[in-house]
Amino acid sequence: MELFLDTANMDEIRQGARLGVVRGVTTNPSLAAKEGIGKFEAYKSAVQEIAEMIDGPISVEVISSDVEGMITEGRDIVNWIPNPWVKLPSTIAGIEAMAVLTKDNIKVNQTLCFSVNQALLGAQAGATVVSPFVGRLDDVGHDGMQLVEDIASIFQRYNVKTKVMAASIRNSLHCVAAAKAGADISTVPFSVLMQMIKHPLTDAGQTRFLQDWQQASS
Ligand code: G3P
Repeated sequence: MELFLDTANMDEIRQGARLGVVRGVTTNPSLAAKEGIGKFEAYKSAVQEIAEMIDGPISVEVISSDVEGMITEGRDIVNWIPNPWVKLPSTIAGIEAMAVLTKDNIKVNQTLCFSVNQALLGAQAGATVVSPFVGRLDDVGHDGMQLVEDIASIFQRYNVKTKVMAASIRNSLHCVAAAKAGADISTVPFSVLMQMIKHPLTDAGQTRFLQDWQQASS
């Protein structure tokens, strides 16, 4: 399972890139707004800055809600950076725009996916990747990870090429569960990436190794 960073924060992306484990980045309007990015040109230059740090797909979400607007935006976004995935919502307009853009070989991340049916439709429309939102389903009392598992197993059974990206990941246990559920990718906040690395026994063990070595060599 590959790891993507789910953020529009440049420092986090820079640190993630240095670790050498981040294969892509996902952004959305809320994540951009959180960083004070509220204008089209600012979003575009932020995405271009991200693409200079990460050698992988960068998901850029459209902000139109109608089909024509989504198509126009998608065709523009692909000229911003070398490896864009246009993020389109799992709405009627989103699916229609998806079918048009993917016919032009534009890569699409189907976002805001909350059901197997939405994922099946996105796959038919040629989505490169579908993003089931785990945490938000859990928030309303549904089993978000079960959705990841259902989509992954159905896609495997029918040899569907669309990849499954577990999104709305809230903690490091979600990453383990996503890997077990068969997700191809998990897109995680920077804090979760840090949680994945840290273990108190590793820290204690490392301190002890260095202390023992110091004692032996003094
Ligand atoms: O990748 C989708 C993600 O940004 C949504 O996460 O935590 O806002 O549900 P969250």
